Amino acid sequence: MDLLKKRIQSDGQVLNDSLLKVDSFLNQQIDPQLMLKMGEEFAKRFSGESITKILTIESSGIAVSVMAGLILNVPVIFARKKKSVISNEALYCTKVYSFTKRESNSIIVPKNFLEKDDKVLIIDDFLANGEAATGLATIVKQANASVIGIGIVIEKSFQPGAQKLQQAGYRVESLARIASFSNGQVNFL
Ligand code: G4P
Ligand code: NA
Ligand code: NA
Repeated sequence: MDLLKKRIQSDGQVLNDSLLKVDSFLNQQIDPQLMLKMGEEFAKRFSGESITKILTIESSGIAVSVMAGLILNVPVIFARKKKSVISNEALYCTKVYSFTKRESNSIIVPKNFLEKDDKVLIIDDFLANGEAATGLATIVKQANASVIGIGIVIEKSFQPGAQKLQQAGYRVESLARIASFSNGQVNFL
C-alpha cells in the first residue's frame, strides 16, 4: 500500500536493525485518515469472504481494526493482555511470548463474543515473530470458529512470523512488507 509505505519513509524512525518507530501515526499519535484508508484496504482484500468478526489485540491493533470493521460492517473484538489469569470458564485464554519485550502475557477474550459459526479476520499492527497472531488464532480455534485470514499493517519479512503463519495455512495480507533496515533506511520487499 503506497500511502503507508510513503508514510513509513517520511515519518518512521529506524531504531536499530530490527525495530521501527512509528509513534507519530500508529503506536501513540494515531492518524485517523490513514487508519480509514488501511481499514478500506483490508476490507477490499477480504471482500467476498463473508467475514463476521474482526479480532485484534490491545492496544495498537484497535484503531485500524475499527476502520476495517466499519467498512465490512462487522463487530471488532480485542483481546486483552494480562500478566496471569486465574482459570475462568467464561474466558478464552492463551499464552503469548514476546521476543521483542522478553515477556509472556496471557491474552483473553470473553467467550460470549465468539461463536462457532464466526468467520474471523485477525488484524494486528506489526508482524515480527508471529506470536500475537498465533495466539489470536488459538483463541478462534478454542471457539471452534474459523480464521479466514490475518491482516497486518507492517510486516517485518526478515523475521519469522509471516512464513510461520503461511506454513500453518493462514492467508496473510500485509499492507507494508519490510525486507530490511539499513543505514537508518527502510527497504521494502
Ligand atoms: P510477534 O507478535 O510478531 O511475535 O511480535 P512481538 O511479540 O515481538 O511484538 C511485541 C510488541 O512489539 C507488539 O506490540 C508489537 O506490535 C510490537 N512490535 C514488534 N516489532 C515492532 C517494531 O519494529 N516497531 C514497533 N513500533 N513495534 C513493534 P504490543 O506489545 O502488543 O503493544 P501495543 O503497541 O499493541 O500496545
Ligand atoms: Na505495538
Ligand atoms: Na501489536
